[in-house]
Amino acid sequence: MSHQTPTAAQAAGPARPRVLSGIQATADSFHFGNYLGALRQWVDLQEDYQPFFFIADLHALTVPQDPKALRERFYRCAAQLIAMGIDPDRSALFVQSHVPEHTQLTWVLECITGFGEARRMTQFKDKSAKEGESAASVGLFAYPILQAADILLYRPKYVPVGEDQRQHLELTRDLAQRFNHRYKKTFPLPEPYILKSTGRITDLQNPTAKMSKTNSSASGIVEMLDEPKVSAKKIRSAVTDSQAQVRYDDEGQPGISNLLTIYSALTGTKVADLEQQYAGKGYGDFKGDLAEVVVDFVTPFRDRTNELLDDRAELDGVLRRGAEQAREVASRTLAEVYDRVGLVRPTL
Ligand code: TYM
Repeated sequence: MSHQTPTAAQAAGPARPRVLSGIQATADSFHFGNYLGALRQWVDLQEDYQPFFFIADLHALTVPQDPKALRERFYRCAAQLIAMGIDPDRSALFVQSHVPEHTQLTWVLECITGFGEARRMTQFKDKSAKEGESAASVGLFAYPILQAADILLYRPKYVPVGEDQRQHLELTRDLAQRFNHRYKKTFPLPEPYILKSTGRITDLQNPTAKMSKTNSSASGIVEMLDEPKVSAKKIRSAVTDSQAQVRYDDEGQPGISNLLTIYSALTGTKVADLEQQYAGKGYGDFKGDLAEVVVDFVTPFRDRTNELLDDRAELDGVLRRGAEQAREVASRTLAEVYDRVGLVRPTL
């Protein structure tokens, strides 16, 4: 792998608009919701935008983590991102905690965020409603403000995410607008990039709920690094509906609709064409075929991830270079912000 050479588009350049996104280092494997809802778009957007993608290790700390497992996940995240097509020659791929400007800007943004505004964010609200306010950390409370800082530092045009991040994007835009209004125009307003078709992949066993690491049962979630035959089994035993027709109907038949979405996204075949192909056939045929599609997709992904995990020094190098590229942009934004709010930089 060579890393330093700019691509033709970069070299030819006026700078392309930026895209930025992040994923938490909270699981040993990404799942299909992460991949289809967000990560695939990261890969596609590398073509026409200047990409900044990061592993949100600081966000992971907002709930208790085992330090050893977190350290391992850091590498697993990096390897998976590269295996799915994030190209370190084109994208700045980095780790959030390697760029201290993220926490530095967070403080400034926290000072313009209302307490009530932060309290309304669903993650904190849900956890404190379920387990009591003292079960949630101050970190969890401030989580969306760190996310706003992650985004605004890079002044991106788009932020490719799943539907569940929309509220955080709205807060980010509100804070950007408030800062611009109170001081001077500093932040363009970032736009969420959320696909209607795959923005919310649901749990295979509970198809009205989001597929999620924290809430799904093991059989409800397809992990990208699972043994392929385990994933195939999960697909074959996914909950389907009572109408016995392979037809997309999000409300009436959420189970088969979710599977149609996954099938269509993995093969590029339109949902309407799949409906036609399976007209008169049962759910069993459909699920058997989808199970094969899933095996064909995850097998090379898993092999490539494992290969990359064998060379940690290479991954360290990629992340180091990514952090350097990120800091170049982030430090400029932070200097402007400090200046605008009236903080005086130390004299040399
Ligand atoms: P995280 O780590 O929970 O998820 C990573 C991405 O996967 C998407 N996603 C889904 N999309 C569709 N269907 C699903 N079932 C599904 N589950 C997860 C998420 O929407 C997300 O895009 N707060 C973020 C991480 C973050 C971030 C940022 C994102 C930190 N800073 C700055 C963008 C910009 C999170 O917890 O994502």
